[in-house]
Amino acid sequence: MRSFANILVTGGCGFIGTNFVRHLFSDKSFSGRIINFDALTYAGNPENLADIDAAHGKRGDGRYIFVRADICDRAAVEKAFTDYEIDAVVHFAAESHVDRSILGPETFIRTNVMGTYTLLDVARNAWAGRKDVLFHHISTDEVFGSLGDSGYFTETTPYDPRSPYSASKASSDHLALAYHHTYGLPVTLSNCSNNYGPWQFPEKLVPLMILNMLEGKPLPVYGDGKNIRDWLFVEDHNEAVWTIMKSGAAGRTYNIGGENEWENIDLLNCLIELVAEETGKTAAEYKALITYVKDRPGHDRRYAIDCSRLKTELGWTRSLNFEEGLRATVRWYLSHREWCARVRSGEYKTWMDKNYLER
Ligand code: NAD
Ligand code: DAU
Repeated sequence: MRSFANILVTGGCGFIGTNFVRHLFSDKSFSGRIINFDALTYAGNPENLADIDAAHGKRGDGRYIFVRADICDRAAVEKAFTDYEIDAVVHFAAESHVDRSILGPETFIRTNVMGTYTLLDVARNAWAGRKDVLFHHISTDEVFGSLGDSGYFTETTPYDPRSPYSASKASSDHLALAYHHTYGLPVTLSNCSNNYGPWQFPEKLVPLMILNMLEGKPLPVYGDGKNIRDWLFVEDHNEAVWTIMKSGAAGRTYNIGGENEWENIDLLNCLIELVAEETGKTAAEYKALITYVKDRPGHDRRYAIDCSRLKTELGWTRSLNFEEGLRATVRWYLSHREWCARVRSGEYKTWMDKNYLER
Protein backbone atom coordinates (compact mmCIF):
# COMPACT_ATOMS: atom_id res chain seq x y z
CA MET A 1 0.00 0.00 0.00
CA ARG A 2 1.31 3.47 -0.90
CA SER A 3 1.68 6.24 1.65
CA PHE A 4 2.40 9.89 0.97
CA ALA A 5 4.06 12.70 2.89
CA ASN A 6 3.09 15.76 0.83
CA ILE A 7 -0.01 15.62 -1.34
CA LEU A 8 -0.69 18.38 -3.84
CA VAL A 9 -4.48 18.69 -4.09
CA THR A 10 -5.44 20.84 -7.06
CA GLY A 11 -8.85 22.49 -6.88
CA GLY A 12 -9.09 21.85 -3.12
CA CYS A 13 -11.40 24.85 -2.68
CA GLY A 14 -14.04 23.48 -5.04
CA PHE A 15 -16.88 21.09 -4.25
CA ILE A 16 -15.21 17.68 -4.39
CA GLY A 17 -11.75 18.99 -3.48
CA THR A 18 -13.05 20.62 -0.29
CA ASN A 19 -14.69 17.37 0.75
CA PHE A 20 -11.49 15.45 -0.13
CA VAL A 21 -9.28 17.68 2.04
CA ARG A 22 -11.74 17.31 4.93
CA HIS A 23 -11.87 13.53 4.33
CA LEU A 24 -8.08 13.16 4.56
CA PHE A 25 -7.78 15.22 7.74
CA SER A 26 -10.41 13.02 9.35
CA ASP A 27 -8.52 9.86 8.37
CA LYS A 28 -6.28 8.94 11.32
CA SER A 29 -4.05 6.82 9.07
CA PHE A 30 -2.97 9.91 7.13
CA SER A 31 -0.26 11.94 8.86
CA GLY A 32 1.18 13.88 5.93
CA ARG A 33 0.70 17.43 4.65
CA ILE A 34 -1.84 18.70 2.13
CA ILE A 35 -0.86 21.47 -0.23
CA ASN A 36 -4.08 22.89 -1.62
CA PHE A 37 -3.29 24.51 -4.98
CA ASP A 38 -6.24 26.51 -6.27
CA ALA A 39 -6.67 29.59 -8.45
CA LEU A 40 -9.97 30.51 -6.73
CA THR A 41 -12.21 30.89 -9.75
CA TYR A 42 -15.91 31.62 -9.11
CA ALA A 43 -16.17 27.96 -7.99
CA GLY A 44 -13.34 27.98 -5.46
CA ASN A 45 -13.92 29.15 -1.92
CA PRO A 46 -11.20 28.90 0.77
CA GLU A 47 -13.79 29.72 3.45
CA ASN A 48 -14.93 26.09 3.04
CA LEU A 49 -11.72 25.06 4.78
CA ALA A 50 -11.45 27.79 7.42
CA ASP A 51 -11.68 25.27 10.28
CA ILE A 52 -9.08 23.02 8.62
CA ASP A 53 -6.81 26.05 8.21
CA ALA A 54 -7.24 26.94 11.88
CA ALA A 55 -6.35 23.44 13.06
CA HIS A 56 -3.72 22.49 10.47
CA GLY A 57 -2.53 25.73 8.84
CA LYS A 58 0.34 28.06 9.81
CA ARG A 59 -1.19 28.77 13.20
CA GLY A 60 -2.03 25.11 13.76
CA ASP A 61 0.09 21.98 13.26
CA GLY A 62 1.35 23.09 9.81
CA ARG A 63 -0.10 20.15 7.89
CA TYR A 64 -2.31 22.32 5.66
CA ILE A 65 -0.86 24.78 3.16
CA PHE A 66 -2.90 26.89 0.78
CA VAL A 67 -1.32 28.13 -2.44
CA ARG A 68 -3.39 30.47 -4.56
CA ALA A 69 -2.16 29.84 -8.10
CA ASP A 70 -3.22 28.69 -11.54
CA ILE A 71 -2.38 25.18 -12.74
CA CYS A 72 -1.47 26.71 -16.14
CA ASP A 73 1.28 28.74 -14.45
CA ARG A 74 4.27 26.43 -14.87
CA ALA A 75 6.58 28.42 -12.61
CA ALA A 76 4.03 28.35 -9.77
CA VAL A 77 3.51 24.60 -10.14
CA GLU A 78 7.28 23.99 -10.18
CA LYS A 79 7.70 26.14 -7.09
CA ALA A 80 5.06 24.17 -5.21
CA PHE A 81 6.76 20.89 -6.15
CA THR A 82 10.12 22.17 -4.89
CA ASP A 83 8.96 24.08 -1.81
CA TYR A 84 6.82 21.26 -0.47
CA GLU A 85 8.59 18.10 -1.77
CA ILE A 86 5.41 16.85 -3.40
CA ASP A 87 5.18 13.05 -3.67
CA ALA A 88 1.55 12.76 -4.83
CA VAL A 89 -0.85 14.83 -6.89
CA VAL A 90 -4.61 14.46 -6.84
CA HIS A 91 -5.87 16.60 -9.64
CA PHE A 92 -9.41 17.93 -9.11
CA ALA A 93 -8.94 21.45 -10.52
CA ALA A 94 -11.10 21.99 -13.58
CA GLU A 95 -13.81 24.01 -15.14
CA SER A 96 -16.63 21.63 -14.31
CA HIS A 97 -20.03 22.94 -15.44
CA VAL A 98 -21.39 21.68 -18.78
CA ASP A 99 -23.69 24.69 -19.37
CA ARG A 100 -20.79 27.10 -18.94
CA SER A 101 -18.71 25.07 -21.42
CA ILE A 102 -21.46 25.49 -24.01
CA LEU A 103 -21.49 29.25 -23.47
CA GLY A 104 -17.70 29.66 -23.41
CA PRO A 105 -15.46 26.68 -24.16
CA GLU A 106 -12.13 28.51 -24.07
CA THR A 107 -11.46 28.44 -20.32
CA PHE A 108 -12.31 24.73 -20.36
CA ILE A 109 -9.64 24.05 -22.96
CA ARG A 110 -7.15 26.23 -21.09
CA THR A 111 -7.64 24.80 -17.58
CA ASN A 112 -8.67 21.24 -18.32
CA VAL A 113 -6.26 20.56 -21.19
CA MET A 114 -3.34 22.96 -20.80
CA GLY A 115 -3.51 22.96 -17.01
CA THR A 116 -3.45 19.17 -16.85
CA TYR A 117 -0.58 19.07 -19.34
CA THR A 118 1.38 21.58 -17.22
CA LEU A 119 0.91 19.54 -14.04
CA LEU A 120 1.86 16.29 -15.75
CA ASP A 121 4.95 17.80 -17.32
CA VAL A 122 6.16 19.39 -14.10
CA ALA A 123 5.57 16.09 -12.26
CA ARG A 124 7.55 14.17 -14.91
CA ASN A 125 10.53 16.51 -14.53
CA ALA A 126 10.36 16.80 -10.76
CA TRP A 127 10.01 13.08 -10.17
CA ALA A 128 12.43 11.91 -12.91
CA GLY A 129 11.75 8.17 -12.98
CA ARG A 130 10.71 7.79 -9.30
CA LYS A 131 8.22 5.00 -8.64
CA ASP A 132 7.31 5.93 -5.05
CA VAL A 133 5.15 8.84 -6.26
CA LEU A 134 1.68 9.10 -7.82
CA PHE A 135 -0.35 11.38 -10.07
CA HIS A 136 -4.07 10.66 -9.66
CA HIS A 137 -6.21 12.28 -12.32
CA ILE A 138 -9.89 12.92 -11.51
CA SER A 139 -12.26 12.56 -14.42
CA THR A 140 -15.87 12.03 -15.33
CA ASP A 141 -18.19 9.45 -16.87
CA GLU A 142 -19.16 12.13 -19.43
CA VAL A 143 -16.07 11.22 -21.53
CA PHE A 144 -17.92 8.05 -22.60
CA GLY A 145 -20.80 9.94 -24.26
CA SER A 146 -24.43 8.97 -23.93
CA LEU A 147 -26.10 5.59 -23.31
CA GLY A 148 -29.40 4.30 -24.68
CA ASP A 149 -31.96 2.56 -22.47
CA SER A 150 -29.62 -0.28 -21.51
CA GLY A 151 -25.94 -0.95 -20.84
CA TYR A 152 -23.27 0.60 -18.66
CA PHE A 153 -19.99 2.47 -19.09
CA THR A 154 -17.03 0.23 -18.28
CA GLU A 155 -13.34 1.16 -18.28
CA THR A 156 -13.07 -0.14 -21.85
CA THR A 157 -16.02 1.79 -23.28
CA PRO A 158 -14.67 3.88 -26.19
CA TYR A 159 -14.44 7.62 -25.53
CA ASP A 160 -17.20 9.65 -27.22
CA PRO A 161 -17.35 13.07 -25.52
CA ARG A 162 -20.10 15.36 -26.76
CA SER A 163 -19.84 18.69 -24.90
CA PRO A 164 -16.87 21.07 -24.80
CA TYR A 165 -16.55 20.15 -21.10
CA SER A 166 -16.42 16.40 -21.69
CA ALA A 167 -14.15 16.81 -24.72
CA SER A 168 -11.69 18.80 -22.59
CA LYS A 169 -11.83 16.15 -19.84
CA ALA A 170 -11.34 13.36 -22.41
CA SER A 171 -8.29 15.16 -23.70
CA SER A 172 -6.86 15.46 -20.19
CA ASP A 173 -7.48 11.74 -19.56
CA HIS A 174 -5.57 10.83 -22.73
CA LEU A 175 -2.69 13.09 -21.72
CA ALA A 176 -2.51 11.54 -18.24
CA LEU A 177 -2.35 8.00 -19.62
CA ALA A 178 0.05 9.09 -22.38
CA TYR A 179 2.46 10.39 -19.71
CA HIS A 180 2.29 6.98 -18.06
CA HIS A 181 2.85 5.00 -21.24
CA THR A 182 5.46 7.30 -22.79
CA TYR A 183 7.44 8.54 -19.80
CA GLY A 184 6.62 5.96 -17.13
CA LEU A 185 4.94 8.55 -14.87
CA PRO A 186 3.00 6.65 -12.18
CA VAL A 187 -0.56 7.69 -13.06
CA THR A 188 -3.95 6.43 -11.90
CA LEU A 189 -7.24 7.70 -13.28
CA SER A 190 -10.85 7.62 -12.15
CA ASN A 191 -14.07 8.42 -14.03
CA CYS A 192 -16.95 9.18 -11.72
CA SER A 193 -20.66 9.77 -12.13
CA ASN A 194 -22.66 12.75 -10.77
CA ASN A 195 -21.74 13.77 -7.23
CA TYR A 196 -24.02 15.45 -4.73
CA GLY A 197 -23.41 16.68 -1.17
CA PRO A 198 -22.25 19.70 0.83
CA TRP A 199 -20.20 22.59 -0.60
CA GLN A 200 -21.43 22.15 -4.20
CA PHE A 201 -21.68 25.44 -6.06
CA PRO A 202 -25.39 26.22 -6.51
CA GLU A 203 -25.36 26.10 -10.30
CA LYS A 204 -25.52 22.28 -10.41
CA LEU A 205 -28.88 20.50 -10.39
CA VAL A 206 -29.23 19.45 -6.73
CA PRO A 207 -28.22 22.66 -4.90
CA LEU A 208 -29.81 24.88 -7.55
CA MET A 209 -33.16 23.17 -7.12
CA ILE A 210 -32.98 23.26 -3.30
CA LEU A 211 -32.20 26.98 -3.24
CA ASN A 212 -34.80 27.84 -5.88
CA MET A 213 -37.42 26.03 -3.79
CA LEU A 214 -36.44 27.99 -0.70
CA GLU A 215 -36.57 31.24 -2.67
CA GLY A 216 -39.83 30.42 -4.46
CA LYS A 217 -38.16 30.59 -7.88
CA PRO A 218 -38.99 28.40 -10.91
CA LEU A 219 -37.40 24.93 -10.97
CA PRO A 220 -36.00 24.73 -14.53
CA VAL A 221 -36.17 21.20 -15.97
CA TYR A 222 -34.29 20.81 -19.25
CA GLY A 223 -36.18 19.13 -22.13
CA ASP A 224 -38.59 16.38 -21.09
CA GLY A 225 -36.88 15.81 -17.71
CA LYS A 226 -36.23 12.18 -18.55
CA ASN A 227 -32.44 12.36 -18.91
CA ILE A 228 -30.80 9.93 -16.53
CA ARG A 229 -27.82 10.45 -14.23
CA ASP A 230 -26.17 8.04 -11.77
CA TRP A 231 -25.86 9.83 -8.39
CA LEU A 232 -23.15 9.27 -5.78
CA PHE A 233 -22.57 11.00 -2.43
CA VAL A 234 -19.35 13.02 -2.57
CA GLU A 235 -17.88 11.22 0.48
CA ASP A 236 -18.19 7.90 -1.33
CA HIS A 237 -16.43 9.36 -4.36
CA ASN A 238 -13.59 10.62 -2.18
CA GLU A 239 -13.21 7.35 -0.30
CA ALA A 240 -12.91 5.66 -3.72
CA VAL A 241 -10.26 8.19 -4.84
CA TRP A 242 -8.24 7.67 -1.65
CA THR A 243 -8.52 3.88 -2.04
CA ILE A 244 -7.22 4.10 -5.61
CA MET A 245 -4.37 6.40 -4.56
CA LYS A 246 -3.30 3.92 -1.89
CA SER A 247 -3.79 0.67 -3.78
CA GLY A 248 -4.66 1.22 -7.45
CA ALA A 249 -2.33 -0.09 -10.16
CA ALA A 250 -0.29 2.52 -12.04
CA GLY A 251 -1.57 3.05 -15.56
CA ARG A 252 -5.02 1.75 -14.61
CA THR A 253 -8.41 3.45 -14.87
CA TYR A 254 -11.24 2.93 -12.37
CA ASN A 255 -14.89 3.79 -12.88
CA ILE A 256 -16.70 5.13 -9.81
CA GLY A 257 -20.50 5.23 -9.63
CA GLY A 258 -23.47 5.05 -7.35
CA GLU A 259 -25.39 2.25 -9.14
CA ASN A 260 -28.19 4.72 -8.58
CA GLU A 261 -29.90 5.92 -11.76
CA TRP A 262 -32.56 8.61 -11.62
CA GLU A 263 -34.51 10.49 -14.26
CA ASN A 264 -34.06 14.20 -13.52
CA ILE A 265 -37.78 14.74 -12.94
CA ASP A 266 -37.98 11.84 -10.46
CA LEU A 267 -34.94 13.13 -8.62
CA LEU A 268 -36.53 16.58 -8.46
CA ASN A 269 -39.78 15.14 -7.08
CA CYS A 270 -37.79 13.27 -4.45
CA LEU A 271 -35.96 16.48 -3.50
CA ILE A 272 -39.28 18.31 -3.31
CA GLU A 273 -40.62 15.77 -0.80
CA LEU A 274 -37.50 16.10 1.34
CA VAL A 275 -37.42 19.91 1.27
CA ALA A 276 -41.16 19.99 2.09
CA GLU A 277 -40.60 17.68 5.09
CA GLU A 278 -37.70 19.79 6.33
CA THR A 279 -39.42 23.17 5.88
CA GLY A 280 -42.95 22.17 6.87
CA LYS A 281 -44.34 23.40 3.54
CA THR A 282 -46.44 21.27 1.20
CA ALA A 283 -44.87 19.39 -1.71
CA ALA A 284 -47.66 20.79 -3.93
CA GLU A 285 -46.37 24.32 -3.30
CA TYR A 286 -42.93 23.37 -4.62
CA LYS A 287 -44.28 21.21 -7.45
CA ALA A 288 -46.08 24.27 -8.78
CA LEU A 289 -42.64 25.81 -9.39
CA ILE A 290 -41.55 23.06 -11.85
CA THR A 291 -40.95 24.71 -15.23
CA TYR A 292 -39.96 22.78 -18.33
CA VAL A 293 -37.42 24.83 -20.29
CA LYS A 294 -35.54 24.55 -23.59
CA ASP A 295 -33.19 21.57 -23.56
CA ARG A 296 -29.42 21.85 -23.06
CA PRO A 297 -27.81 21.60 -26.55
CA GLY A 298 -26.33 18.12 -27.08
CA HIS A 299 -27.84 16.96 -23.76
CA ASP A 300 -26.55 13.42 -23.05
CA ARG A 301 -29.52 11.14 -22.43
CA ARG A 302 -28.26 8.59 -19.95
CA TYR A 303 -25.15 7.90 -17.88
CA ALA A 304 -24.72 4.68 -15.91
CA ILE A 305 -21.50 3.32 -14.46
CA ASP A 306 -20.30 -0.23 -14.04
CA CYS A 307 -17.90 0.08 -11.09
CA SER A 308 -17.23 -3.64 -10.59
CA ARG A 309 -13.47 -3.22 -11.17
CA LEU A 310 -13.22 -0.87 -8.20
CA LYS A 311 -15.35 -3.16 -6.05
CA THR A 312 -13.66 -6.45 -6.89
CA GLU A 313 -10.03 -5.30 -7.23
CA LEU A 314 -9.89 -2.69 -4.47
CA GLY A 315 -12.82 -3.60 -2.21
CA TRP A 316 -14.58 -0.22 -2.38
CA THR A 317 -18.30 -0.04 -1.60
CA ARG A 318 -20.79 2.79 -1.44
CA SER A 319 -21.60 3.60 2.20
CA LEU A 320 -24.68 5.79 2.12
CA ASN A 321 -28.11 5.05 0.69
CA PHE A 322 -29.47 7.74 -1.61
CA GLU A 323 -32.29 9.00 0.55
CA GLU A 324 -29.97 9.43 3.56
CA GLY A 325 -27.41 11.25 1.43
CA LEU A 326 -29.99 13.50 -0.18
CA ARG A 327 -31.61 14.35 3.16
CA ALA A 328 -28.20 15.19 4.65
CA THR A 329 -27.55 17.41 1.63
CA VAL A 330 -30.91 19.21 1.96
CA ARG A 331 -30.21 19.82 5.66
CA TRP A 332 -26.72 21.12 4.87
CA TYR A 333 -28.08 23.68 2.39
CA LEU A 334 -30.83 24.70 4.80
CA SER A 335 -28.25 25.40 7.48
CA HIS A 336 -25.75 27.11 5.15
CA ARG A 337 -27.89 29.84 3.60
CA GLU A 338 -25.25 32.49 4.31
CA TRP A 339 -22.58 30.43 2.53
CA CYS A 340 -24.90 30.13 -0.47
CA ALA A 341 -25.56 33.87 -0.50
CA ARG A 342 -21.85 34.65 -0.23
CA VAL A 343 -20.66 32.29 -3.00
CA ARG A 344 -23.34 33.65 -5.28
CA SER A 345 -22.51 37.27 -4.47
CA GLY A 346 -18.75 37.04 -4.65
CA GLU A 347 -18.43 38.34 -1.07
CA TYR A 348 -16.27 35.38 -0.14
CA LYS A 349 -13.47 36.91 -2.20
CA THR A 350 -13.39 39.78 0.31
CA TRP A 351 -13.28 37.23 3.11
CA MET A 352 -10.39 35.55 1.33
CA ASP A 353 -8.43 38.75 0.87
CA LYS A 354 -8.69 39.42 4.59
CA ASN A 355 -7.87 35.94 5.72
CA TYR A 356 -5.29 34.78 3.25
CA LEU A 357 -3.65 37.57 1.34
CA GLU A 358 -2.93 39.87 4.26
CA ARG A 359 -0.83 37.51 6.31
P1 NAD B 1 -15.75 22.74 -8.93
O1 NAD B 1 -16.08 23.55 -10.14
O2 NAD B 1 -16.66 22.79 -7.76
O3 NAD B 1 -14.30 23.15 -8.40
C1 NAD B 1 -13.21 23.34 -9.25
C2 NAD B 1 -12.05 23.93 -8.44
O4 NAD B 1 -10.92 24.07 -9.32
C3 NAD B 1 -12.34 25.31 -7.86
O5 NAD B 1 -11.87 25.40 -6.53
C4 NAD B 1 -11.57 26.25 -8.77
O6 NAD B 1 -11.16 27.45 -8.12
C5 NAD B 1 -10.38 25.37 -9.17
N1 NAD B 1 -9.79 25.79 -10.45
C6 NAD B 1 -10.44 25.99 -11.62
N2 NAD B 1 -9.57 26.38 -12.57
C7 NAD B 1 -8.34 26.38 -11.99
C8 NAD B 1 -7.03 26.67 -12.46
N3 NAD B 1 -6.81 27.06 -13.73
N4 NAD B 1 -5.99 26.56 -11.61
C9 NAD B 1 -6.20 26.18 -10.31
N5 NAD B 1 -7.42 25.91 -9.81
C10 NAD B 1 -8.48 26.00 -10.64
O7 NAD B 1 -15.55 21.27 -9.47
P2 NAD B 1 -15.98 19.88 -8.78
O8 NAD B 1 -17.41 19.62 -9.07
O9 NAD B 1 -15.46 19.83 -7.41
O10 NAD B 1 -15.14 18.87 -9.69
C11 NAD B 1 -13.80 18.51 -9.35
C12 NAD B 1 -13.27 17.53 -10.38
O11 NAD B 1 -14.09 16.38 -10.41
C13 NAD B 1 -13.27 18.06 -11.81
O12 NAD B 1 -12.09 17.62 -12.43
C14 NAD B 1 -14.50 17.43 -12.45
O13 NAD B 1 -14.30 17.27 -13.84
C15 NAD B 1 -14.53 16.09 -11.73
N6 NAD B 1 -15.85 15.46 -11.60
C16 NAD B 1 -16.90 16.16 -11.05
C17 NAD B 1 -18.11 15.50 -10.86
C18 NAD B 1 -19.29 16.22 -10.23
O14 NAD B 1 -20.39 15.67 -10.19
N7 NAD B 1 -19.12 17.44 -9.73
C19 NAD B 1 -18.26 14.16 -11.23
C20 NAD B 1 -17.18 13.50 -11.80
C21 NAD B 1 -15.98 14.15 -11.96
O1 DAU C 1 -21.49 12.90 -14.74
C1 DAU C 1 -20.49 13.62 -14.06
C2 DAU C 1 -20.68 15.10 -14.30
O2 DAU C 1 -21.81 15.50 -13.52
C3 DAU C 1 -19.46 15.94 -13.93
O3 DAU C 1 -18.39 15.58 -14.77
C4 DAU C 1 -19.76 17.43 -14.07
O4 DAU C 1 -18.65 18.19 -13.60
C5 DAU C 1 -20.98 17.75 -13.22
O5 DAU C 1 -21.33 19.12 -13.40
C6 DAU C 1 -22.15 16.86 -13.61
O6 DAU C 1 -22.59 17.18 -14.95
P1 DAU C 1 -24.14 17.24 -15.34
O7 DAU C 1 -24.29 18.05 -16.55
O8 DAU C 1 -24.73 15.87 -15.34
O9 DAU C 1 -24.70 18.00 -14.03
P2 DAU C 1 -25.78 19.15 -13.84
O10 DAU C 1 -26.01 19.29 -12.39
O11 DAU C 1 -25.44 20.37 -14.62
O12 DAU C 1 -27.09 18.52 -14.51
C7 DAU C 1 -27.61 17.27 -14.07
C8 DAU C 1 -28.81 16.95 -14.96
O13 DAU C 1 -29.85 17.89 -14.70
C9 DAU C 1 -28.53 17.09 -16.45
O14 DAU C 1 -29.27 16.10 -17.16
C10 DAU C 1 -29.06 18.48 -16.81
C11 DAU C 1 -30.22 18.64 -15.86
N1 DAU C 1 -30.48 20.02 -15.41
C12 DAU C 1 -29.45 20.74 -14.88
C13 DAU C 1 -29.65 22.03 -14.42
C14 DAU C 1 -28.49 22.83 -13.86
C15 DAU C 1 -31.77 20.56 -15.46
O15 DAU C 1 -32.72 19.88 -15.92
N2 DAU C 1 -31.97 21.81 -14.99
C16 DAU C 1 -30.96 22.59 -14.48
O16 DAU C 1 -31.21 23.76 -14.10
